[in-house]
Amino acid sequence: MAFATHHIIRTLTSSSARNAAIKHVTIIGGGQMGAGIAQVAASTGHTVVLVDTSEDILKKAAKGIEGSLKRVVKKKFADKPEAGQEFIQKVMKNVSVSTDATSTVQNTDLVLEAIVENLKIKQGLFSALDKAAPQHTIFASNTSSLPITDIASSTARLDRFGGLHFFNPVPMMKLVEVIKTQSTSPETFDSLMAFSKALGKNPVTCHDTPGFIVNRLLVPYMMEAIRLQERGHGSKEDIDMAMKLGAGYPMGPFELLDYVGLDTAKFIIDGWYEMEPDNPLFAPSLMLNKLVAEGKFGKKNGEGFYKYK
Ligand SMILES: NC(=O)c1ccc[n+]([C@@H]2O[C@H](COP(=O)([O-])OP(=O)(O)OC[C@H]3O[C@@H](n4cnc5c(N)ncnc54)[C@H](O)[C@@H]3O)[C@@H](O)[C@H]2O)c1
Repeated sequence: MAFATHHIIRTLTSSSARNAAIKHVTIIGGGQMGAGIAQVAASTGHTVVLVDTSEDILKKAAKGIEGSLKRVVKKKFADKPEAGQEFIQKVMKNVSVSTDATSTVQNTDLVLEAIVENLKIKQGLFSALDKAAPQHTIFASNTSSLPITDIASSTARLDRFGGLHFFNPVPMMKLVEVIKTQSTSPETFDSLMAFSKALGKNPVTCHDTPGFIVNRLLVPYMMEAIRLQERGHGSKEDIDMAMKLGAGYPMGPFELLDYVGLDTAKFIIDGWYEMEPDNPLFAPSLMLNKLVAEGKFGKKNGEGFYKYK
């Protein structure tokens, strides 16, 4: 694991090289998602540069990746601890970190963004990187709720821009939603699908519509569970038990809301409501707004619909 502001210089000489598989990846944002994606990409033989705003955050991300790999190895190499150690070293060699996004993207096949869920900040980042990255480089966002088209509009590479939506925790979750906008070229889309498969994931094709597939179904479902409780038609405990035992879901909607984060759920639904104020599925909830205003964000800070302290 090296702290690198410069990395492998690769020369792309032919057009066939330009269409080659994604091998070298820059991930911007070393938080929960970015670190997870970096781990999976490095484990599947890609070279990865993880970019964030400070060295401290990057050190924490690298430590997190190593810790997560140790857990993987404990299971996968239970009888061969030495081979497990070798695997960790090999994977960590594929990962470097940097605070300098602009110089990092000068030699990369894919820029995958997993920073804060804010349109203006994402646009500002991509606009700057668009000027620095080579022509062949594909840009993708891991946004959960923002239109890829709006993020891409800050660049001049609309045909080489798509969405790659991973799920948390990335090393465990097998799905990737691959999002094409009206401008994403078939070559770009194919490259993103192939990359997702190379990561060992199962990609599905999505259009650039609010929530893509999973969140478009899941968020209105969770909001309806809150409304059901607001109407006094069921307690959160009963609703959770009903969906677990009656529908076979691993978590009830309130447990899931607390896991996702109530602030995140509110951010998503508020954004969709702004886009489609007449859609009753996207209507805000007084109860959710109240909990968030009280600073109850769910599992991550000790209390949401349930208490975790
Ligand atoms: N957490 C989830 O369950 C989940 C699932 C799918 C998609 N997403 C999406 O992934 C993205 C990241 O989410 P997360 O949960 O990993 O967030 P996070 O807060 O854990 O991490 C975000 C990281 O981005 C860094 N960052 C912010 N601005 C930056 C910039 N300009 N340059 C470089 N780094 C910057 C922050 O320092 C932080 O380390 C969001 O768009 C979110 O909607 C999240």
